[in-house]
Amino acid sequence: MADNRRQSHALWPGDTMMSPRYSINRRGALALMVGAGALVGFSNQSSAQVSSLLTKPIPSSGEMLPVVGLGSWITFNVGDDGELQDECASVMRAFFAAGGRLIDSSPMYGSAQQTIGYGLDKLSRPKALFSADKVWISDPGAGREQIAQSQELWGIPKFHLLQVHNLLSWEAHLQTLFEMKAAGQLNYVGITTSEGRRHAEIEDIMASQPIDFVQISYNVLDREVEDRILPLALERKIAVIVNRPFRQGDLIADTADQPLPDWISETGAKNWAQLMLTFIISHPAVTCAIPATSNVSHVQENMNAATGAFMEPALRKRTIDYVESL
Ligand SMILES: NC(=O)c1ccc[n+]([C@@H]2O[C@H](COP(=O)([O-])OP(=O)(O)OC[C@H]3O[C@@H](n4cnc5c(N)ncnc54)[C@H](OP(=O)(O)O)[C@@H]3O)[C@@H](O)[C@H]2O)c1
Repeated sequence: MADNRRQSHALWPGDTMMSPRYSINRRGALALMVGAGALVGFSNQSSAQVSSLLTKPIPSSGEMLPVVGLGSWITFNVGDDGELQDECASVMRAFFAAGGRLIDSSPMYGSAQQTIGYGLDKLSRPKALFSADKVWISDPGAGREQIAQSQELWGIPKFHLLQVHNLLSWEAHLQTLFEMKAAGQLNYVGITTSEGRRHAEIEDIMASQPIDFVQISYNVLDREVEDRILPLALERKIAVIVNRPFRQGDLIADTADQPLPDWISETGAKNWAQLMLTFIISHPAVTCAIPATSNVSHVQENMNAATGAFMEPALRKRTIDYVESL
């Protein structure tokens, strides 16, 4: 069985395209750290793990979110392949069983939204779900129609969070999202970027617009956001979602053969993935990281990063120095 999920899309395909790419049939300081938070409403969760999950508040509402979520780019773009859809549903089952809530997707991610809808159906619609999707279309007037299509694919009446993907036509879409939030049609509004693109514009929007979330790339080697964006998020009380925590898997692949630091027990992490995630979620401005995976044992490993403890700044610095020395 061929698995085309690894065929990566162009990373920044949106800004000049006239319409989203639907390929449904293609296979393809610790101040904000609040520690444990109990989740309710999903009977399959392991209560021992869930009750000790690290959570942080969404600054604009105080709602608590587990510090590890689930991405869906590439990994969930499996088209109509029933076997792969079932594998993705198993990943989602393990995610919710470990106390996970936030799943992130986009109309840009091929059939990922359809796969999420399939998984949610198969899992009898977990109440714990925190749905985070995006609007990604150049036509300023087409946002609502695209959002309605996305809701249909997920099989949900409304999203918790909608983000303007890669700032595409952001002026018009942010207006739409603010109107929808005011009308009770979604809870939170956000913007996204990745890999350091358009950070100056991201900062301007964070400073001038009443957004609830910003999504950016951040990991132990890509730390540009530490200079301005993360401090601004703290100042403006904007929640931060971190994408590409593993540099799309490269960070794990590059360190796989390297020895773990002999002080790793001080971090609570047991492997590279957990060390990388613990580093990220320990930044005071970060609300959650959203690693993507198609693998049940990986999602369990990633969720276990949310059961340890946050790293002190000195240990975060030690982690940077160690990874940079490899
Ligand atoms: N502009 C934007 O809005 C934007 C841009 C980029 C990403 N995102 C979002 O952020 C999410 C995460 O970013 P990403 O998907 O680019 O990259 P990522 O999460 O950094 O890396 C994903 C890769 O890591 C591997 N992986 C995951 N957990 C692992 C583990 N425990 N051990 C070993 N390998 C592991 C996965 O392979 P396996 O399947 O084998 O586990 C997958 O290939 C995306 O899925 C998407 O939802 C948004």
